[in-house]
Amino acid sequence: MANINSQVSRLEDKSTNRDEELASTAVILGRRALDFSTPVAAPAAARARVISVVNQKGGVGKTTTTINLGAALAELGRRVLLIDFDSQASMTTGLGIKSSQIKEQYGSIWYLLNDSTANVTDFILKSNVPGLDFIRGHGDLAAAEAAFVTEIAKEHKLRKILAPVLELYDDILIDCSPSLGTLTVNALTASDGVLIPMECEYFAVLGLSLVKETIGKIQEHTNPHLRIDGILATMFDRKTGHSRDVLELIDKEFHDELLDTIIARTVRFSESTVKGEPITSYAPSSSGALSYRRLARELISRGGAN
Ligand SMILES: Nc1ncnc2c1ncn2[C@@H]1O[C@H](COP(=O)(O)OP(=O)(O)OP(=O)(O)O)[C@@H](O)[C@H]1O
Ligand SMILES: [Mg+2]
Repeated sequence: MANINSQVSRLEDKSTNRDEELASTAVILGRRALDFSTPVAAPAAARARVISVVNQKGGVGKTTTTINLGAALAELGRRVLLIDFDSQASMTTGLGIKSSQIKEQYGSIWYLLNDSTANVTDFILKSNVPGLDFIRGHGDLAAAEAAFVTEIAKEHKLRKILAPVLELYDDILIDCSPSLGTLTVNALTASDGVLIPMECEYFAVLGLSLVKETIGKIQEHTNPHLRIDGILATMFDRKTGHSRDVLELIDKEFHDELLDTIIARTVRFSESTVKGEPITSYAPSSSGALSYRRLARELISRGGAN
């Protein structure tokens, strides 16, 4: 524990010193800067908070956010479990598992969805970040839409799978596929909150209403407790006025949900994916790593993570 604490304070020293250099909604939109540099308290809840990372638009940073927010929460002493809920299994490869190693259905979340007698704890893998565990994905998840169509209570399958591990973790993050189909409905039904990464691109704003509509339907039919934890602006480019204009637009339409932390566009994310590790360990003092640590602290302070 002492080891974790000293690690945490070292990391916080770095991020505190450079927090003011990072892009943030308040600063970009000319408001008083917010401060999330204070150390966070140890998690108090006895049950994990489950967060789905959702956007039906592809390539907006869902997987990158799941991996790096997870790693940042683990650095803060949280016990974190990540679920790869996308048939592309990019979260699994992003955590260092070779695609040739993930051909087997056994060991994946897909197997758990199909065999109710399987024990979820047997499927948990350790990442190279202390405190960061995951359940890997599988290409056959793409068949879920057709496979579950006639099942009763099909929306609740993931919620049931996760129930036995809720007390083992502080935070569980689900990396969703770029769709609002059966799998994402399962993820949202199993979740307490939703985090919506949004590329700072004009067309991305138009898709946000669809995500919110889906969340509304989930609240009405399968999970009344679901809440939006935040919209995270990603791939922000300081050099273009376009990113700023899009941020202003999101702020106007979704002020309460838009998070202050912004993830800037940097090639470091693609590099760390190739390396199969989070940016927080691949490039620990890069702005990408600092931003995801700041996001972890912001979410904790908003009650969006334990
Ligand atoms: N802030 C960023 N700056 C630059 N590149 C980024 C950033 N975030 C993610 N990327 C890169 O963009 C690509 C898409 O990111 P990612 O896989 O996280 O998106 P996604 O929403 O999960 O995609 P999909 O919808 O296909 O699952 C990846 O190559 C990733 O490394
Ligand atoms: Mg993805």
